[in-house]
Amino acid sequence: MLTRREWIRQAASVTAAVAMPEFLIGRGLARTPANNAQAITGAGSLKTHAAARGLLTGCAVNAALFRDDERFRQLLAEQYNIVVPENCLKWNILRPTVDTYDFADADSVVEFAEAHGMKVRGHNFVWHEALPSWFAATINKDNAEKFLVDHIHTVGGRYKGKIHSWDVVNEAIWIPDGRTDGLRSSSPWFQFLGPGYIDLAFRTARGADPSALLTYNDYGIEYDNDEEGKKRTAVLALLRRMKADKVPLDALGIQSHIRAVSKDGFNRGVQELLDGAKALGLQVFVTELDVNDDAVATEDMSERDTIVAEVYRSYLTAALAGPEVKAVLTWGTSDKNTWLNNGTKFRKQHPDRLQRPLPFDPDYAPPPAFFAMRESFDQAKKR
Ligand code: XIL
Repeated sequence: MLTRREWIRQAASVTAAVAMPEFLIGRGLARTPANNAQAITGAGSLKTHAAARGLLTGCAVNAALFRDDERFRQLLAEQYNIVVPENCLKWNILRPTVDTYDFADADSVVEFAEAHGMKVRGHNFVWHEALPSWFAATINKDNAEKFLVDHIHTVGGRYKGKIHSWDVVNEAIWIPDGRTDGLRSSSPWFQFLGPGYIDLAFRTARGADPSALLTYNDYGIEYDNDEEGKKRTAVLALLRRMKADKVPLDALGIQSHIRAVSKDGFNRGVQELLDGAKALGLQVFVTELDVNDDAVATEDMSERDTIVAEVYRSYLTAALAGPEVKAVLTWGTSDKNTWLNNGTKFRKQHPDRLQRPLPFDPDYAPPPAFFAMRESFDQAKKR
């Protein structure tokens, strides 16, 4: 005999199955019972599989898609328990003029997340890119500190208590700038404030939103090669120095923009990052995972998708090996919108071919990468 609650739950799941949106019934999904459309929602969703291991999983949210595409919003709610605005918390979007803020897009993503029980990552307070057009003519050595502090107070304060983690400083290490500590001295923030801008940003962020996990986020630190090894070492040294100086720092964000074809592996690199973070008591987030497939030679799309999926699998196996990684986010969800297809910068070898780097294809059907992600969560130890 079913209790009333069980009966309601069962009825609801039947309704959900009948009402399955057409877009989730993807090509090839009907092939096996385990791969049918129903099996990727609800109990089959990325978030259910991730949550079973104590993991958060999410993606970057493109504001235009979020505004205009109902199917995109539906997919977010169905698959993820955390989201991160792709661009609308960056200075160039938030600050159209020197003294105005435009929170419209960021507010709507945060509201949507709240309504659907999802967490939100904040990206980001301080970066050398995505600065507004008025920045260069306005900010100087004398006022940079005030601009930085006011920005973090205003933006961090607005979303206080609603943000799981903030990328406080993004990409502050850049070895080619030639400093022994690896700091990116070409960043305008460094130019105006010197190396102290990093600690200032973290201290200010802690005051603005004490419950957000304060994160240092960087890329090009994953692979087992000389170049990335140097950058990885510099990132870990920066974090160690910050901890020693009692700077409030809670997490390392590994962007994880990886490549389907590479002569280098990433097992040792990722392990070094996990070990380094563990020694400092930091959580780790995979913040911007995608698999660049430009160098895949075959033109057969299903072969390409399989290669991408295997890279997802091996990367996540490495990243989830220890308990440090608590969240896995991809940089976008559907290949319909990926920064790797903006212009041809990331399509040098196949300029006429769109990349397929994400867990949903342009029609929102799940390619093998979706299943590789889900299986990697299943294989991970509970954290
Ligand atoms: C990218 C966005 O995806 C693009 O839409 C934008 O034009 C440029 O920035 N590392 C980061 C992200 O930390 O903020 C970047 O996002 C991708 C690389």
